[in-house]
Amino acid sequence: MYILLVILILAYSKNIECKYTFDTKYADVLIDHFSYTSNKTFKLRYLVNETFWTANGPIFFYTGNEGDIELFAQNSGFIMELAPKFNALIVFCEHRYYGDSMPFGNLSYTKPEYLGYLSSEQALHDFVDIIDILQNSKYGSDGPLPVIAFGGSYGGMLSSWLRIKYPATVQGAIAASAPIWQFTGLTPCGVFYSIVTHVYASANEKFDCSISIKNLWPAIRRVANTPDGMTWLNSAWKLCNNITNTKDVQKLIDAVSNALVNMAMANYPYANTFLADLPPYPVKAMCSELIEPEKYMKDDKKLILALGKALNIYTNYSRTAKCNDFSDTDALGISGWDFQSCTEMVMPMCTNPDDMFEPSAWDYDKVAQDCLVKFGVKPSNPREVVLQYGGKNLKYASNIVFSNGLLDPWSGGGVLSNISSTVTAIVIPEGAHHLDLRESNPADPASVIRARKFHSDSIQNWITDFYRDKINSNFNRVLLV
Ligand SMILES: *[C@@H]1O[C@H](CO)[C@@H](O)[C@H](O)[C@H]1NC(C)=O
Ligand SMILES: *[C@@H]1O[C@H](CO)[C@@H](O)[C@H](O)[C@H]1NC(C)=O
Ligand SMILES: *[C@@H]1O[C@H](CO)[C@@H](O)[C@H](O)[C@H]1NC(C)=O
Ligand SMILES: *[C@@H]1O[C@H](CO)[C@@H](O)[C@H](O)[C@H]1NC(C)=O
Ligand SMILES: *[C@@H]1O[C@H](CO)[C@@H](O)[C@H](O)[C@H]1NC(C)=O
Ligand SMILES: *[C@@H]1O[C@H](CO)[C@@H](O)[C@H](O)[C@H]1NC(C)=O
Repeated sequence: MYILLVILILAYSKNIECKYTFDTKYADVLIDHFSYTSNKTFKLRYLVNETFWTANGPIFFYTGNEGDIELFAQNSGFIMELAPKFNALIVFCEHRYYGDSMPFGNLSYTKPEYLGYLSSEQALHDFVDIIDILQNSKYGSDGPLPVIAFGGSYGGMLSSWLRIKYPATVQGAIAASAPIWQFTGLTPCGVFYSIVTHVYASANEKFDCSISIKNLWPAIRRVANTPDGMTWLNSAWKLCNNITNTKDVQKLIDAVSNALVNMAMANYPYANTFLADLPPYPVKAMCSELIEPEKYMKDDKKLILALGKALNIYTNYSRTAKCNDFSDTDALGISGWDFQSCTEMVMPMCTNPDDMFEPSAWDYDKVAQDCLVKFGVKPSNPREVVLQYGGKNLKYASNIVFSNGLLDPWSGGGVLSNISSTVTAIVIPEGAHHLDLRESNPADPASVIRARKFHSDSIQNWITDFYRDKINSNFNRVLLV
């Protein structure tokens, strides 16, 4: 049975719109924070904007995820909009092995011994070092500043883990769409694809379009079973990468499945270029093309044509595509994440019989074997993340807001209910993947506006606590003298 392996948290589109600007800085950080056997360093990139900062203002620190930090800086307008209100210093810090932050330059991805320093623990320590540099610069000259960590998706996991592991470094964390429970033993492997299916099934009142999608895969396999059928499919779908053998057929099915997942993740109420160039509510837009099943459902070729037309929303929303391309864009970011999934980030994924996707089981041994072939490494322990960060036991954590949009397939591995008075969960029923971190938009649903207000109020409380505790500790110091 085939195993869905390529799960990308984020694969951004190539064209970054640079609306927000920053000073680009680099700091030397240790390649290995933990062994004490090497003092080799590399240049870690971080972006700073001090326009809104005034003395004693907090540091808003974005914990970069698996991609070029510019992409996250341009897709987190909420932080930019919030900074003036708090007089905050804005910092977007890149994650090692992504973007411009390569520990071994262009050799970083060439060998396991170079790649081995790519882990969330090393990255968190990088963040701690950068925060330390900032606190010891002009910004901290009147005493340490409160630091609020922000992140979306894997970046959101990192922001929550930063608070959990280094509570003295960050005062609180906003963790948007952070699937910190999408790990072995914490969440059933089928949750992700069942949410995607549900989002498609309920996108249109007239017709459940997940049925058409479920029928697409066997139709493709039947039609592409002969060379003539493949040629027909290549021209019917105007594919950029023509299929010529059964391996290509599998690749096409994977890529289209991935496109459907991406549309669910970027199912925002306005047009956006986050994962692809997409219309407002792309899932609804696609499903509204499929509302007359009687016209195409009984015939494989008609079904393929109808779905091809509907999928143009994904490949040709710009109306300028010469051919339809379902392949992924950011090749480097993807292989970095693949390596992380082969070491720490083991996220069991499978489909359920009722899902609109082809059957796919979770087979840890096969995944580990594939990792060995691909990278020369395999996970040390499928529960490594649980051991590192505590899994479902968040009893000892504090000052974290976990927000999740219920349209987002990653919400299945997220924290959806309140843990304690200081580890809270915010649910955004109409939200897709970290919609709340994006800049405000007239089309925003009320639930995301409320979530942003909750973030802002939480940050205010954390900062107030920070200064109250600081005054208390100064007071103690004076008394002791
Ligand atoms: C910081 O952001 C503000 C508001 O977007 C902008 O006016 C300013 O030019 C930015 N600073 C830098 C150094 O880019
Ligand atoms: C790094 O280690 C080498 C060998 O032990 C030493 O010669 C060098 O001075 C060290 N560099 C720094 C920056 O500490
Ligand atoms: C890395 O960059 C150097 C200098 O630009 C170049 O000579 C070398 O071929 C590159 N190596 C790889 C593996 O890309
Ligand atoms: C792909 O196949 C179609 C239909 O057979 C053909 O017209 C087209 O030239 C092929 N494209 C490439 C790049 O081979
Ligand atoms: C993309 O849309 C334009 C405008 O409708 C159309 O002319 C073009 O053929 C489409 N491209 C593909 C690959 O379908
Ligand atoms: C968690 O608690 C906050 C109040 O602190 C509340 O606004 C929010 O709705 C609660 N979340 C859930 C999922 O019940």
